[in-house]
Amino acid sequence: MAKSKSAYICSECGYESPKWYGKCPGCGEWNTMNEEFVTTASKVVEQKVRSVSSYSKPLKLKEITTGDEFRYKTGIGELDNVLGGGIVKGSLVLIGGDPGIGKSTILLQVCQNLGSQINILYVSGEESRRQIKLRADRLGVTGDILIMTETDVEVVSEQIKTIKPELVIIDSIQTMNLTQLNSSPGSVTQVRECTNLLMRTAKALEIPVIVVGHVNKDGAIAGPKVLEHIVDAVLYFEGDKQLTYRILRAVKNRFGSTNEIGVFEMTYNGLKEVSNPSLLLLSGRPTGVSGTCVACTMEGSRPILAEVQALATNSGYGTARRMSTGFDYNRMNLLIAVLEKKGGYYFAGADTYVNVVGGFKLDERAVDLCVALALVSSLKDIPVPEDVIAFGEIGLAGEIRSVSHAEKRINEAARLGFKRCILPFYNLKNLSKDISGDIELFGVRSVRQAVKIIME
Ligand SMILES: Nc1ncnc2c1ncn2[C@@H]1O[C@H](COP(=O)(O)OP(=O)(O)O)[C@@H](O)[C@H]1O
Ligand SMILES: [Mg+2]
Ligand SMILES: [Zn+2]
Repeated sequence: MAKSKSAYICSECGYESPKWYGKCPGCGEWNTMNEEFVTTASKVVEQKVRSVSSYSKPLKLKEITTGDEFRYKTGIGELDNVLGGGIVKGSLVLIGGDPGIGKSTILLQVCQNLGSQINILYVSGEESRRQIKLRADRLGVTGDILIMTETDVEVVSEQIKTIKPELVIIDSIQTMNLTQLNSSPGSVTQVRECTNLLMRTAKALEIPVIVVGHVNKDGAIAGPKVLEHIVDAVLYFEGDKQLTYRILRAVKNRFGSTNEIGVFEMTYNGLKEVSNPSLLLLSGRPTGVSGTCVACTMEGSRPILAEVQALATNSGYGTARRMSTGFDYNRMNLLIAVLEKKGGYYFAGADTYVNVVGGFKLDERAVDLCVALALVSSLKDIPVPEDVIAFGEIGLAGEIRSVSHAEKRINEAARLGFKRCILPFYNLKNLSKDISGDIELFGVRSVRQAVKIIME
């Protein structure tokens, strides 16, 4: 017998409380607590216990063979990379992202590439067969895949058991529904229990399942965060919807590194892999103007160049405005404080803005120097020459500290035609010999020294 009691659950993080809060005590989001009927169903629990014992008989460590980790290559190199080499058999992968970012698109493209080798079951609770067919036609997907439009997760689970496909795609988890539960589809309880049921089915039969989860800002449906701890891998699609490129990032991966990213461009025919993201991010860069500088950041094992722009203008009355897009706001304030105290560059009376071009996010300390140079360049209204690239962490004493992967950053800059590189003095001293290309290196100990080299 299923008994229900009501509780308030946060759709962002899954925080549960008997009482309503305007602001979730768990994650601090506003208006995300919704009333749900939590089923203390003996049936659901029973099922769990029974199926766990059926596939997890204790084994001695030495009895376990490691040859088991079989991977399906999706045929999309960037995606395989982010997954750590392909989809692991029996794994549960969550792909999250804003609606319209391209989750269904990339999964249909996976079907095209893999469909000829294995049996794929594509379950959609959002679109009709016709809509899926229309999209498949647009993307040129002709693969032999099974399309099922269903929202009852138990029916889906039964179908998986009978068809025994080699890959299952659930688009999206928020449309799935377990009829035993009283709460509506998309609620935290539903999303969690549906995922659990799919996981039990998948693990028992060793079928990998890819689950789509919408990120939704108004808290009406449960976000992918509430599932992060259940699934094996979590990939997020990021990107500005007004721009065409998308970044796929692993935030959790039990079978690979979480450092890798995949870069794609959204086109009429679907997502195209971008093998040279730096070129894309630097296209249309203004030359001969103050307040811009190119940074080199590491995304996993891969160097990416991005343009940082800064604007410092005289503010009118009252406190100066500061704003930062794509770079941490507090870090920007800290850099400004260091520039004032240690460099003698005063931003006190200036409205100051920092923007990373292309909607890209830079959250690595190594871009400090680049942001600082863009700021000083705008303040003094002297351009940073266009053939200059800079990287280095800035310490509170105003010193430039060394960063990792200096060689890779320099090589990427040289490859894209940069002629001068400003880098931490200690990086220059310890540089290994594998620098390719024609690029002049300047090791600096302070921002002042860097400014002297390129702006004076
Ligand atoms: N006819 C079209 N031509 C070009 N791009 C399209 C077309 N239809 C949809 N798209 C692109 O595909 C995106 C929708 O992707 P989709 O995979 O459905 O997103 P999600 O599943 O993440 O909600 C749209 O934002 C748009 O950029
Ligand atoms: Mg979709
Ligand atoms: Zn919360």
